[in-house]
Amino acid sequence: MRISKLEKYRQIAEFSNVIEPSVEDLQRAPSDLYDKWNTAFFKRVGHLVLEVGCGQGDLSLGLARRFPERNFLGLDVKGARIWRGARTALDEGLKNVGFLRIEAEFLERLFAPGELNEIWITFPTPYLWKPEKMLVSPTFLSRYRRLLAANGILHIKTDVMSLANYVCNIWPHCGFHLLNLTNESPESPEPAFLDVCTRFEATAIERQKRIWHIQADPVSGNVTPISEEIARFPWNQI
Ligand SMILES: C[S@@+](CC[C@H](N)C(=O)[O-])C[C@H]1O[C@@H](n2cnc3c(N)ncnc32)[C@H](O)[C@@H]1O
Repeated sequence: MRISKLEKYRQIAEFSNVIEPSVEDLQRAPSDLYDKWNTAFFKRVGHLVLEVGCGQGDLSLGLARRFPERNFLGLDVKGARIWRGARTALDEGLKNVGFLRIEAEFLERLFAPGELNEIWITFPTPYLWKPEKMLVSPTFLSRYRRLLAANGILHIKTDVMSLANYVCNIWPHCGFHLLNLTNESPESPEPAFLDVCTRFEATAIERQKRIWHIQADPVSGNVTPISEEIARFPWNQI
């Protein structure tokens, strides 16, 4: 039976595994769960992983099944997509995955410095027309750097070559050290990361597109503020 978007919004408001913080509240004060996601939301200590722009939560669900000892949060602004992931987690009884419906711009009101062990950005929308909204931009990178633990890891998967080039060129200027670049193509397939595949990744594979998985870790110490020139670097013109 097809469920309308409105019905999905109504249902996620009641799901125990979905948090929908109010923007007004976050503007006033950090979330009640700030620095307490493991203890107060998951009610156990664990390696905490955030997927930003999780869509239907395929990666968070897939990793949660693989790593039952870790805690996973999928964040997206779209309630109908969150509903799919949250419904699946409830149906499967997966207790180590939760979902947050909010704009990623509020990350620093949700998480304390060093609270996250991993951040994943999976197939981000290339916001050509609104670079400040790009989840891989220097603005977001400085947020991720503050929120990741010292030995944390930032991952991105994309099928957009210019976006992968952008990441390789810009992230090292934003306090991240590139660890690994996996270049997966249909002709010479590398093992997909833990064979967990998102909806957008499945479409890319179907279209025989190349997929980049780039991993980086935060460098210690202060980072020289990036120049205006780098901040405005037009990723689509590399
Ligand atoms: C291209 S989809 C990819 C979805 C999923 N990661 C996948 O691979 O199937 C990008 C997702 O990022 C979400 N998104 C983009 N910008 C966002 C933001 N600033 N805050 C929260 N979600 C965002 C969109 O709502 C969308 O669901």
